[in-house]
Amino acid sequence: ALAAMAARAEIILAANSELSWQQPYVSEFHRVDPADAAALEELVRKVAPDGLLTYDETLVEPVALVAAAAGVPYTDVEAVRRCKDKSAMRAALAEGGLSPVRFAVARTPEEAVRAAGEIGYPVVLKPRALGGSIGVLRVADEKELLESFEVASEANVDGLTSAHPGVLIEEYLDGPEFSVDCATWQGVTTPLVVAEKALAFPPYFEEFGHIVPAAPQPDLDAAVELVVQAHRVVGLDRLVSHSEVKLTSRGPRIVEINVRLGGDLIPYLGHLATGVDVAGAAADIAVGQEPDLGTDRERFAAVAMIYPEYDIRLEEVRLNGDHPGLEQFTTFLPAGTEVRLPPEGFLSRIAFAVVTADTREGCQARVEAVRAGVEISGTPLAAR
Ligand SMILES: Nc1ncnc2c1ncn2[C@@H]1O[C@H](COP(=O)(O)OP(=O)(O)OP(=O)(O)O)[C@@H](O)[C@H]1O
Ligand SMILES: [Mg+2]
Repeated sequence: ALAAMAARAEIILAANSELSWQQPYVSEFHRVDPADAAALEELVRKVAPDGLLTYDETLVEPVALVAAAAGVPYTDVEAVRRCKDKSAMRAALAEGGLSPVRFAVARTPEEAVRAAGEIGYPVVLKPRALGGSIGVLRVADEKELLESFEVASEANVDGLTSAHPGVLIEEYLDGPEFSVDCATWQGVTTPLVVAEKALAFPPYFEEFGHIVPAAPQPDLDAAVELVVQAHRVVGLDRLVSHSEVKLTSRGPRIVEINVRLGGDLIPYLGHLATGVDVAGAAADIAVGQEPDLGTDRERFAAVAMIYPEYDIRLEEVRLNGDHPGLEQFTTFLPAGTEVRLPPEGFLSRIAFAVVTADTREGCQARVEAVRAGVEISGTPLAAR
């Protein structure tokens, strides 16, 4: 993403760690804690950039606030807040007559039981404002709800908990899931990448893989249109976003709108598949120029997340065999890392692969071949 952005704009990076892999793409670097609003605002005033952009989920609200304080044109703070607080987003959509989903916020297991009784089981429990599907799970009945309430209420990323208190209880949305990456510029939202998402480890929702573009199907156009309308209703403009949507038996429904680039390399998959440059468009928009949304090819691209089958102290992850169409196979955990599956750990991936092909079937077959070629070594961990 940074490479794509650097091709469209000069990048001045502010980050909380030393400059490393980002070096080739940035022209200036400042070490600052972006969550320290005062320090970030001071830096922004000093540097006076043409625009601001963050690709970090935890920073979308702080950066919107600093942009407003320092007078840098940016997405409306209230619209960003509405999307970060999943219950506020549901309420805004309902008010705009879009994507009706029954929901409630519960602070205690008792409140959750009452809310779920009114909504109707199964329900999904989730932290009101976290990411990475951490602490998100489906429960079938009151017993499961009481057993699992803490997974959602105590969820955190390295100690960082949801910015808003309470657990969101939502009606369970059935059907397949898709993501839609959009660019919104001068009030017009343009869908750029539609990805089909595969999940793993039920009743949790770990992301297993994505394929771009999604196979056409009757309800998908309506779902993409819903995402476009949802941007208008929640008041989003001047950004690139990543929305998730499900084709339920009652029609398309929004899961959430992320006011940032998609994760899991989905913008990169879009680039491999059609040539569209989502990250580049984000940079264009950030500096206030009309985004280049051009495409130049029609292929298929997929990412496969690799997980261990059980909790493990990892030694090595290897890919055996020759794999045509393999764009990259990436491991990132040092030997000795302990990896636990939900609910003991989330985002439990240990490697990923990106493949391309000329056809959808070819792309799926290549993903399967890569999955079959992965060899994981390590020691099983005892249950905690
Ligand atoms: N009401 C629901 N019904 C069915 N599935 C749901 C519901 N809410 C969430 N999910 C599933 O859980 C996943 C994670 O939920 P959500 O996107 O709200 O949380 P998140 O932590 O922001 O996720 P991520 O950062 O991984 O996108 C969704 O992508 C979807 O698969
Ligand atoms: Mg999500």
